[in-house]
Amino acid sequence: MPEERATIIDISQERWKTAQKFELEFAQNTIGSDDDWNLWWMEKYSNYSFLEGKEFQNVLEVGCGPHTNVRYILPKITVGKIWLEDPLIQYYITHYLNQCPSTTDMIKSLIKKPSKRVNFCLELFSNLSYSVDLSSAKLEDLPYKDSQMDLVICINVLDHVNNYDSCMSEMSRVLKSGGILILGQDLTNAEDLVNCPEVVSDIGHPIKVDHTILDDTLSRSFETLTRKVLPREEGRNPEAHYSTYLGVFQKK
Ligand SMILES: C[S@@+](CC[C@H](N)C(=O)[O-])C[C@H]1O[C@@H](n2cnc3c(N)ncnc32)[C@H](O)[C@@H]1O
Repeated sequence: MPEERATIIDISQERWKTAQKFELEFAQNTIGSDDDWNLWWMEKYSNYSFLEGKEFQNVLEVGCGPHTNVRYILPKITVGKIWLEDPLIQYYITHYLNQCPSTTDMIKSLIKKPSKRVNFCLELFSNLSYSVDLSSAKLEDLPYKDSQMDLVICINVLDHVNNYDSCMSEMSRVLKSGGILILGQDLTNAEDLVNCPEVVSDIGHPIKVDHTILDDTLSRSFETLTRKVLPREEGRNPEAHYSTYLGVFQKK
C-alpha cells in the first residue's frame, strides 16, 4: 500500500454545510431505495454474527442516515433503548411521514407483515418493543452523558463530518468501559487523489482519512477486537478509495 498520506480532518462550518446540502439532495433522490450500502456493510461484517445473543442496554447509531445500519443488528441482540443521531434526521423523518398518506394504517400493516423491509423510523416505531430516541445533534458534540452507551455504530459517516478528532473523542466519551464500537469507513490516500480527480472535487465527502490515522486515534482508547483494511478491489468503491476499513473495538 502506498505510504504517502492525504488526510483532511478538519473543515470550516461553511464547507460542512455545503457537503450536507449535497447529502440532503442525495437522500432526496435515493430515499426510496431503502438501502445506502447497508446490506454491503452487513455482509462485510459477516452478518454481524459476532454480536449474536449479546445484550446491550443503550445502542447508539451516529450519522444514522435515512435507513440506518442498526436495523440489521437488532435481530441479533437484546436491546434496552436505541439512540439515533444525524444532523439531517428531522428531514428524514418528515419526508417519510409525508410519503405515507396514512401513517397509522401503514404501521398497522407493518405489524401484520414484520418481515417487510421499510424505512427505519416506521419500522422501529412500529415495533413496540423498541424505545427510540432521535437527535439532530452533530457527532462532534453529542447530547449524551459520559459512559451512557454500550454499543456505538459509526458506518460511512466520518468522511462527512466537520471535525474528525472531535467525533472520535465524542464516541469514546459516550461509550462505557467495555462497550463496543463498530466503525466502517472508506479510506483515502495520495494515490487516490492522483488517480481519481473526483475524490479531490468531491463535494459530499470533505474529510479524508487513511488507516494509519484511524489506528492511531483508536489505539488511545480502544482495544481492537477485529480490524480489516480491505484491499482496493474488495472495498466499497475501488475506483475512488484504496481501501475500506472495517473494525470492531472495545472501549478500555
Ligand atoms: C453516507 S450517509 C450514511 C448514513 C448511514 N450511516 C448509513 O450507512 O446508511 C452519511 C450521514 O452522515 C451524516 N453526517 C454528516 N455530518 C455529520 C456530523 N457532523 N455528525 C453526525 N452525522 C453527520 C449525514 O447527515 C448523513 O446522513
